Amino acid sequence: MMLSMTKTAAIDSMRGGRFVDVIEDAVARINTSIDFDRRLWREDIAGSKAHVEMLVAQRIITKEDGYVIERALGEIWSEIDSGTFNFLHSLEDIHLNIEHRLHEKIGDTAGRLHTGRSRNDQIALDMKLWIRGVVDLIDSELKELQAVLIERADQYAETIMPGFTHLQPAQPITFGHHLMAYVEMLGRDRTRLADARRRMNENPLGAAALAGTQFPIDRQMTSAILGFDRPAANSLDAVSDRDFVMEVLASAGICAVHLSRLAEELIIWTTSQFSFVHLSDSLTTGSSIMPQKKNPDGAELVKGKTGRILSAFTIIAIVLKGMPLSYGKDMQEDKEPCFDAIDNLRLCIACTTSIVRNLQANQEAMRKAVFASFVTATDLADWLVRETKMPFRNAHYIVGQVVRVAEEKCCGLADLPLDLLRKIHHAFDERVYKILSIDASLNARSSYGGTAPVRVREQIIEARKRFLGRSC
Ligand code: ARG
Repeated sequence: MMLSMTKTAAIDSMRGGRFVDVIEDAVARINTSIDFDRRLWREDIAGSKAHVEMLVAQRIITKEDGYVIERALGEIWSEIDSGTFNFLHSLEDIHLNIEHRLHEKIGDTAGRLHTGRSRNDQIALDMKLWIRGVVDLIDSELKELQAVLIERADQYAETIMPGFTHLQPAQPITFGHHLMAYVEMLGRDRTRLADARRRMNENPLGAAALAGTQFPIDRQMTSAILGFDRPAANSLDAVSDRDFVMEVLASAGICAVHLSRLAEELIIWTTSQFSFVHLSDSLTTGSSIMPQKKNPDGAELVKGKTGRILSAFTIIAIVLKGMPLSYGKDMQEDKEPCFDAIDNLRLCIACTTSIVRNLQANQEAMRKAVFASFVTATDLADWLVRETKMPFRNAHYIVGQVVRVAEEKCCGLADLPLDLLRKIHHAFDERVYKILSIDASLNARSSYGGTAPVRVREQIIEARKRFLGRSC
């Protein structure tokens, strides 16, 4: 949003006694971040409360002042929460807006809050608390999506469909098996986020501007109050570090890539050419010109949003690249891409969850597609290897000829008469028809992690334990 600031309004408490000239409008405009960092208000107040408690415990400020500050911070919380707080552009950012309001409420006592603290450790703390909070939310949202995928996979554990490579029919699989692949992908996304969360959980508060403080602060105490494992060990690093933003956004980007692959599959499956999946009216939108259309816009946007989610990581990595220690205002540029990426990832997860929960598989169309392709060709080649001990490559060549004949005759492999098969290779006998049956092919792929329904059911049980913490 473009905003304009009069020179007088731009004079703020930060410029105080030091500055004579008023700030140029454009400089004030480029500097202000309140339009986007106001969403850090909860974290900012939580950090201030922990800091005040510690200042009191360490006798750096009096109990009475601490009480007055804490109570006023509580009131400010309610004001922002209820929408009555008046955010001012002239006050730059969330920190100064809250501090200014504190001053309006309790006068000069407000000034004691910033003892032994700087906006540099304050913003590092706010971002960390915010990111840590959303990582926890995303984890439970991904878990919910996994739960829905697992339920649908259970329902479709025996539903046959062609499995694809190169988007060409390859071998028969079950729809349940296919859905379970995404459960694994999202499981890895969750562990990546959990890993980043573990690493980031060190408290920057108390690093002050960059070098620590002369006040006898207790960083262990604020760490305990704010749920950190320990204080960050190096004050310069503590205010310079935005690894946690990059790591979470990199993980968010990978997760978005996963969701985009499912989205694209859904788009393909819902085309009239495939018709593998039906999306109800509640999941689709209409066309303004073509009355017959039902568009999978939700899935398309899940796919479309991958760009902005992935690019957030790049934006922040470029901001940080070559930045000298410690804090620099460039780092303010982490917020908009970060918030945008996280908001949109969460929207993508929610949208995907709705689609998966409500989609209907067209089992008939899936089965037909299996029969229309030659997806049991590998089974026939495997059979030849077992029966004749010929090398697989030779069997591959022979079955290639079988497929060509079936293609010429416009029929399935199982429709070819035995004498024709025997002309291609004498080892073929009536047992091959059992091999060529789709169900036999499916059940035969019973290696660990394979598509045989019995294995898919095992995967489902294991996944419920591993990802949902359920015993069955
Ligand atoms: N709005 C700033 C940011 O997002 C907060 C920290 C400002 N610190 C400073 N020394 N100007 O990075």
